[in-house]
Amino acid sequence: MSEIIAIVPGTFDPVTNGHLDIIKRAKRIFDHIIVAVAVNAGKTPLFSFDERVELTRGVVESDSELEGVTVEGVKGLLIDFAKKKRAKVIVRGLRAVSDFEYELQMAFMNRRLNEEIEMIYLMPYIKYSFLSSSIIKDVYLNGGDISNFVPELVIEAMNKKIGRRNVQ
Ligand code: COA
Repeated sequence: MSEIIAIVPGTFDPVTNGHLDIIKRAKRIFDHIIVAVAVNAGKTPLFSFDERVELTRGVVESDSELEGVTVEGVKGLLIDFAKKKRAKVIVRGLRAVSDFEYELQMAFMNRRLNEEIEMIYLMPYIKYSFLSSSIIKDVYLNGGDISNFVPELVIEAMNKKIGRRNVQ
């Protein structure tokens, strides 16, 4: 039987422990995981495309539980990238009911573009179910401690990129 390649896509602005939890869950199921750092046309990210690829790759490569996982930047349609990589599956995390509508929309559009690639949804560990990249940036900018929610490399990148604002 041929090996099953799965893509875990996202904007990863920045990657959080919640994303890593989903990547680890996917790794237990599929033969090879490609983390795709993609472009969401509706977002204006804090980190540039190249920075997000570099940071996500650095985080993945420094995590021993993610050995063998590769990280690639994707410009253009995710479904075309998946086809090029011969991936059969795209994995997304589903944190709460509020994610569902958006995910359903993307799933139907991806299916319309290519029927052969399945979307699969995994639930994160409950302690990460409220996490998002935006909330991490907001907590950080307002002086809060984000060390339980992102890897050290991300904190270093945030310090380098913006530093902390003085919070009154
Ligand atoms: N843990 C923590 N946070 C999570 C999470 C998890 N398990 N799962 C999702 N999130 C958060 C993210 O941090 C992000 O938060 P934010 O909105 O505050 O930034 C939000 O939920 C969802 O973002 P993310 O998972 O990073 O991906 P996205 O929804 O921005 O990604 C793409 C969408 C990139 C997959 C999609 O735009 C895409 O496929 N782009 C390529 C172009 C394309 O093919 N477009 C057509 C799509 S039909």
